Amino acid sequence: MKICVVGAGYVGLVSATIFADWGHDVICVDNDLQKVDQIQAGNLPVYEPGLPERVDRNTQANRLRFSTDLANSIADRELVMIAVGTPAGDDGHPNLTALWNVVKSLKGFARKDLAVAVKSTVPVGTCAAISQFMNHQSAAHFDVISTPEFLRQGTAIADFLSPDRMIVGCQSDNAKQLMKILFEPLECPVVYTDWQSSEMIKYAANTFLALKISYINTIANLCEAVGANIHQVALGVGLDHRIGPSFLKPGVGFGGSCLPKDTQAIVALGESHDVNVSLFQEVLQVNHEQRMRIVRKLLEQLGDLTGKKIAVLGLSFKPNTNDVREAPSLTVIPRIAQLGGTVVAYDPVVEMETLSQRYPFAPATNVYEALAGADAGVVLTEWEEFYGLDLERVRSSMKYPLLIDGRNLFAPHFMQELGFIYIPVGISDKLQKDAVLPRI
Ligand code: UGA
Repeated sequence: MKICVVGAGYVGLVSATIFADWGHDVICVDNDLQKVDQIQAGNLPVYEPGLPERVDRNTQANRLRFSTDLANSIADRELVMIAVGTPAGDDGHPNLTALWNVVKSLKGFARKDLAVAVKSTVPVGTCAAISQFMNHQSAAHFDVISTPEFLRQGTAIADFLSPDRMIVGCQSDNAKQLMKILFEPLECPVVYTDWQSSEMIKYAANTFLALKISYINTIANLCEAVGANIHQVALGVGLDHRIGPSFLKPGVGFGGSCLPKDTQAIVALGESHDVNVSLFQEVLQVNHEQRMRIVRKLLEQLGDLTGKKIAVLGLSFKPNTNDVREAPSLTVIPRIAQLGGTVVAYDPVVEMETLSQRYPFAPATNVYEALAGADAGVVLTEWEEFYGLDLERVRSSMKYPLLIDGRNLFAPHFMQELGFIYIPVGISDKLQKDAVLPRI
């Protein structure tokens, strides 16, 4: 199939590359010339394990090309897939400027009928509006398809190749047939539905995941208060197949370009339709407080942060990505600085020099440098390399051996034996300390 993917972000790049891997002829278009030049020079704008090799393989085989020229790129295509960003706007509604620019250009440039698949996360009603707009007084016919993406950053390729399901919202047999051919290599259930339901499924899925994280973080905070262990609790709860074991890891709250944005969008959607969405407002509030809880723990332990050196480990919103959008680090670091602390941070892949010009921290070249002489270490991202730290070396290099672990990297008793004051999430020795005999 001749496909044009518009948008070279992580969803567009991964989709284009895998379609090419499946033997399709793919052009990936982005209007950012610098980005396209970079990709063509072999430097991908996103850090995604396994992706550079695949891009390389397919560009060498001439199945995958990159361009900034949308008009020429769609000339001989059967399918255009839109995967541009829809970031949160100021009012919580997603900003659809990039999406509508593409839609208008497609309408202007197309010389023949075209299937247009929307992979970007868009508010309910967008595909209907796109179809209406494109087919109004147009010589060509545009068959619009909603096909939301469920891959996660950091595991994007594996997720794309083994999805739990595919969702296809369309209105014609032709569109359905095209999607059947395109996604033939995937062995998963496919839900064919209308545009609105397809768009809603994406929001409903992401907000459920956000809800699950705020739920488990709340339970974790209660565990700390009563001396229960969140690992055991999450295991016991997750084994109920109605609940499921995944997305029950407590931490510093969810971040990234999707869960925060989509939860905000569903709040905005509810408000504009006069539907009570306070449940989701609470999910966002719990998430914000969970980030600030790290700072509270620091204050509880150190009393005052003035003049204290705090080492922050991990800046990206989760491991295996260089993405810092809505990362907990970007709210925690300014707060520490506001309270008088000096932050030294380390992340294995985030471009720290550039980020440190916008946020109050000094970048360290490695994790040991960050922790040397620190009054406290704060773990915000569970990067693989942190699990293998030489903890003896860390403890003896720190000024005060306090480790506030927002990602539960280590076993508490082991850390205590090593001489750390170790504060994980959802685990405390409260019960032992506060043990009170029940009144009988
Ligand atoms: C999320 C969804 O998981 C994908 O299905 C969806 O396709 C994607 O958004 C999107 O809409 O494009 P992603 O943002 O890449 O994917 O990251 P997740 O792995 O979902 O993690 C989101 C946040 O939740 C991270 O900050 C992570 O640390 C946190 N998290 C995740 C937890 O705190 N606990 C968990 O148990 C799981």
